[in-house]
Amino acid sequence: MPTLFLSFADGDCVRIEAKPSETVLAAARRAGIPLSSDCEVGDCQTCRATCLGGDLGYEDGTSVSLSQDEIDAGEMLPCVASACTDVRIKLPYERGKLIPAKPFAMKLESIERLSASVVRVVARTLGLSPIPFLPGQYVNLQVPGTTYWRSYSMANSPGDDRTFEFLVRLLDDGEMSRYLTERAAAGDVVQCRGPQGVFYLRSGERPVLMVAGETGVAPMMSMLRQITAPGEGREVTLCFGVNSADDLFFVEELNALARAIPQLDVRIAVAHGPSPTGISQGLVTDLIGGRSLSGHDVYLCGPPAMADSARRMAIGLGAAPDNIIAERFVAAVAAA
Ligand code: FES
Repeated sequence: MPTLFLSFADGDCVRIEAKPSETVLAAARRAGIPLSSDCEVGDCQTCRATCLGGDLGYEDGTSVSLSQDEIDAGEMLPCVASACTDVRIKLPYERGKLIPAKPFAMKLESIERLSASVVRVVARTLGLSPIPFLPGQYVNLQVPGTTYWRSYSMANSPGDDRTFEFLVRLLDDGEMSRYLTERAAAGDVVQCRGPQGVFYLRSGERPVLMVAGETGVAPMMSMLRQITAPGEGREVTLCFGVNSADDLFFVEELNALARAIPQLDVRIAVAHGPSPTGISQGLVTDLIGGRSLSGHDVYLCGPPAMADSARRMAIGLGAAPDNIIAERFVAAVAAA
């Protein structure tokens, strides 16, 4: 039986045996080691990890949402990969941080259009049990009246474990977009599952760079609201980009935060067309600047091309790859 050596970001290492053809996730679960996962069919990348040595295989016909370049670089998906030999795997999160996902329901409190392309949804859990989460995590929401599920990061901080704030990007053919623009109303009940994901705020004193595209700013807002709380002194730079001026939102909120918090530097850009006063014209990655990122924690959230470009730039500016935490928007997962 192949042996799996799992190492977590907090230095914790475990060794487990995998049965032939058993996925890494299944082997870990059988051994009582919870790993981050969501779709468990190779789509969402919530389980994404790095293979440091050994051979992995994917069953024929398995959906693997990694590119060949990423697989060649050692990236892997424990939910669908199985070990062909002894394998060493690095998980990009602390073992003790995982909060078990569970089903719950929320009632919508408000639905507010923030820009041409973004809606803010505030909801409150039904029942009295709090739903704790880490700043940066997401939950899956079922589009009411359908079998479609969509993933949204919380934009609020976890202070009140019963209130959730989400930013939804409106898409022409999006199931959630159609629901929100055509029939959603305060009081609607939405089924949920979470919290999910390992894009969460790491503790420490290192300065932070955040790069967010469009609604990728939601988890950053949740982190910002924690990182800038009294007693926190970390220097934070937030680079936030949208497609055009019509897509801008949160400008006032972010500028107010920057005025109130001396260690926060907010930079905003629009990629196309004219930009309003105080907003740069160009790509969000243009906002990163040329300073050294050595010793920084870097958080990236948005479309894959943006996240990949920002990662290359951050590494070029001296950021350690292990200190770059990325959440790439991948295609929506439909679940029954
Ligand atoms: S849980 Fe592995 S790709 Fe979704």
